[in-house]
Amino acid sequence: MRSPRKAVLLVIVASVLLVAALLRSWTPRTYTTVDVRQRPGTEAEKLLEERLQDSDQRYAGIPFRLKESVASLLARNGCVCESEGSSMNLPFTQLLFPRVSAHPLHTAFKASELGEVKRRRAQEYHSFQMRSQTPADVLIVAEANSPLQYPTQGVEVRPLKTILIPGTQIQSPLICVNLTGTLGTFNLAAEVEGVKVRGEGEMHMTLSSSLLPHLNRQLQFVTYTNTLFHPSTADTVQFETDGHQAAFTIKVRHGATPKLYNPGPKGEYNISALVTIATKTFLRYDKLQNLIDSVRRYYPDVTIVIADDSEHPQPVTGPHIEHYIMPFGKGWFAGRNLAVSQVTTKYVLWVDDDFIFTASTRLEKLVDVLESTTLDLVGGAVREATGYTATYRQTISIEAGEEEGDCLHMRRGFHHVVQGFPNCVITDGVINFFLARTDKVQQVGFDPRLARVAHLEFFIDGLGSLHVGSCDDVIVSHATKIKLPWHQSESDKTYAKYRYPPASSDATHTKNGLLYFKNRFQCLTHN
Ligand SMILES: *[C@@H]1O[C@H](CO)[C@@H](O)[C@H](O)[C@H]1NC(C)=O
Ligand SMILES: *[C@@H]1O[C@H](CO)[C@@H](O)[C@H](O)[C@H]1NC(C)=O
Repeated sequence: MRSPRKAVLLVIVASVLLVAALLRSWTPRTYTTVDVRQRPGTEAEKLLEERLQDSDQRYAGIPFRLKESVASLLARNGCVCESEGSSMNLPFTQLLFPRVSAHPLHTAFKASELGEVKRRRAQEYHSFQMRSQTPADVLIVAEANSPLQYPTQGVEVRPLKTILIPGTQIQSPLICVNLTGTLGTFNLAAEVEGVKVRGEGEMHMTLSSSLLPHLNRQLQFVTYTNTLFHPSTADTVQFETDGHQAAFTIKVRHGATPKLYNPGPKGEYNISALVTIATKTFLRYDKLQNLIDSVRRYYPDVTIVIADDSEHPQPVTGPHIEHYIMPFGKGWFAGRNLAVSQVTTKYVLWVDDDFIFTASTRLEKLVDVLESTTLDLVGGAVREATGYTATYRQTISIEAGEEEGDCLHMRRGFHHVVQGFPNCVITDGVINFFLARTDKVQQVGFDPRLARVAHLEFFIDGLGSLHVGSCDDVIVSHATKIKLPWHQSESDKTYAKYRYPPASSDATHTKNGLLYFKNRFQCLTHN
């Protein structure tokens, strides 16, 4: 039998625990503040800059001779877009000797509003720079004959975690060193005899000893703990002894969270498990059905995602088909975005709704390229009804400009051939028929403001994050594109009106306006 006393004791213990738990949850936690405003230049950066200028000044008196051929390769202050090429005006000159034409982009805006647009663009650009730079991007120079040894790069800590700082030492009879940080504190993982330490657990720590080996031994145990939660930034640590200073950065960031896709059992590539075909349609249901039928001949189980912004959508049904209906006329890039957002496989294959799969459309080849290389996206080739095959390879380069903006240069061509894949090259932009890593395409996204004429804009947005290739041995066929007006069906005519507006139209204005404001270009050249 349980004694009443035991029960009372139990109740008391339970209440004490409950009260303790309540008290704990009520005790206000003290929070320190972190400055996540747009980052102005810090004290440390100013110091670094001054030191650099001082050392540059020392030799300013020594004469030199400029080497024009090399110096001209350095970025000029302010880029320009110039047209060039043949002045001949014979038939086919554009085909044989593609001429480079130049286009200013500010013309997308009225002269009266241009000043205001420029001001707003400059302001947005400034905050973009502030957001995207970290102290780890600042130039740090290791000075000549510094007795300090320290890591120049590769030190990284996860937010609010602790690391041992590797590689610090001094070689100097003056044996006192200081470490100063701004986003975290220093401490010691172990103590060494004969070393005096001040500032343990603080942002400024001093170590001194009369025995150099002991001090260096002690430096091996110095830890850094990030205390301000502000990931994707960096702490510039000042490391100094009398008369000598050095600085190094500790990056503060989360590890990259991977997005992995299960490829299924090993063996031959299972296209249905790895690839989703995405397309956007508008009015052309006959063409779309031909595409679906041709895909099914070779890949009966592959999922096809269709985004459709027709005014009177018709049902598109069948196994492994997802048909998404959008508001009327949402446009080309909005549709691409929607289609790509629904893909759950590792790769997405982009096709136009008037393409036809043939025996040459071997998706396995494109999958193999992406599986064996670091490329994110690889284009194929499109065969026209005339027999002409196009890969539409484009290189894109951006030349830095000043307040007016940067210059965008697009040229037909590519950079290198891909080792091990003689039919494939590295380039920056490809045709409307490409296989890509789904997560990378989703990251770059298709700007839904580009409703009608758009394609390379995606690759411009992706420059710097998309690694692009192009192979000419995987070929899809194009249903006849050029039709004489009196042979066009009603839907063809309506389609053409939306898809191919005249050059002076609103669509071109929108496109140039986005290049001007969003991407901060002043002009573009292409051939
Ligand atoms: C190190 O820090 C201490 C205390 O903050 C300071 O007195 C001393 O001058 C510093 N030494 C060096 C070499 O910067
Ligand atoms: C290929 O993948 C699909 C979809 O995941 C699956 O249903 C099919 O059984 C797989 N085929 C083979 C041969 O593994």
